[in-house]
Amino acid sequence: MRIVTEDGDEVESDRFVVAICRCRRSERYPLCDTSHRRSRRDPR
Ligand code: FES
Repeated sequence: MRIVTEDGDEVESDRFVVAICRCRRSERYPLCDTSHRRSRRDPR
């Protein structure tokens, strides 16, 4: 699967299902890496 961002960057993923990050905290942005689950006060 190829994702093209608003900026025109292209990201490839071989996952069957991908989630798009809306919180912008993902280290794999634009793909969600579940960083949105972490508390801002308690980064792990
Ligand atoms: S939505 Fe941003 S890390 Fe999941």
